Amino acid sequence: MGRIDVAVVTGGGHGIGRALCRRLAKDGAKVVVADIDSESAHTVATEIAGVARQIDVSDEAAVTALVDEVESSVGPIDLFVSNAGVGFGDGKSGAISAEGGMNPIDDRWTISWNVNVMAQVYAARAVIPRMLQRGEGRIINVASAAGLLSQIGDAAYSTTKHASVGFTESLAIDYGDAGISVSVVCPQAVATRMIGIEDDSGKTEGGFRGNDVDGILSAEAAADIIVDQALEGRFLILTHPTVSTYIQRKTGDYDRWIGGMRKFRRSLLE
Ligand SMILES: NC(=O)c1ccc[n+]([C@@H]2O[C@H](COP(=O)([O-])OP(=O)(O)OC[C@H]3O[C@@H](n4cnc5c(N)ncnc54)[C@H](O)[C@@H]3O)[C@@H](O)[C@H]2O)c1
Repeated sequence: MGRIDVAVVTGGGHGIGRALCRRLAKDGAKVVVADIDSESAHTVATEIAGVARQIDVSDEAAVTALVDEVESSVGPIDLFVSNAGVGFGDGKSGAISAEGGMNPIDDRWTISWNVNVMAQVYAARAVIPRMLQRGEGRIINVASAAGLLSQIGDAAYSTTKHASVGFTESLAIDYGDAGISVSVVCPQAVATRMIGIEDDSGKTEGGFRGNDVDGILSAEAAADIIVDQALEGRFLILTHPTVSTYIQRKTGDYDRWIGGMRKFRRSLLE
């Protein structure tokens, strides 16, 4: 597959998305920094001589329009990275919570579903037909280790990230033979605002209120692993290799794994 001349990165204004934009630009791509946060998208685009686009990726018409507009004004999209994602946390009664958290419960589930899953569906629907015509293209969907294991304390996040992994599997199975390279990214903790660490703080500790397991990667380190492994044609990209062991333990004995997660949850509550 050819080089990446044009890439779109959703959620490119902050965190992992911003680091992906920087890495892809360094590799010579013209990068479209697409984010709901217009100011941060412009800041990143200016820094990397890219293009900023303000977009809410949960709006299908906006995603379709973005793909159309980028293809005509910037060029054929070689790589589309659906990276934008949200997590709100359960309320105090756990997975069934109808109270607490950062938004009303229905909004939390709806926004998580639309941003973490449907936005990836909308992007694929818009861009894959064009890639099929060209006989090549790359899709990277950023899910989470929570999409393979589980995020204690956020049922909506865990559920929607599982759906993201499932959808991306379908893309890889359906379009791989037609020359489309598809990857799903399943990180554990990465130092971004999502886990309470501000961009440019230089910190790689103290996220998840200090409950991070297995260490926190910088966004730059995560971006390098993601791009390198996607270019190698890998489907499953694990920025934290221990996740591979956890998946094997889970699938090897699911009930034992649930028991281990209960124990882990108890330890977090102590
Ligand atoms: N940080 C972690 O520990 C971690 C771990 C696993 C997976 N992830 C995933 O990585 C991806 C990037 O997250 P991050 O950690 O860089 O977080 P972040 O909060 O720093 O960045 C998320 C970006 O997405 C943008 N965004 C949010 N909703 C949007 C919308 N509707 N339309 C367009 N843009 C929107 C935000 O403005 C922000 O720029 C997410 O999908 C997240 O679930 C993060």
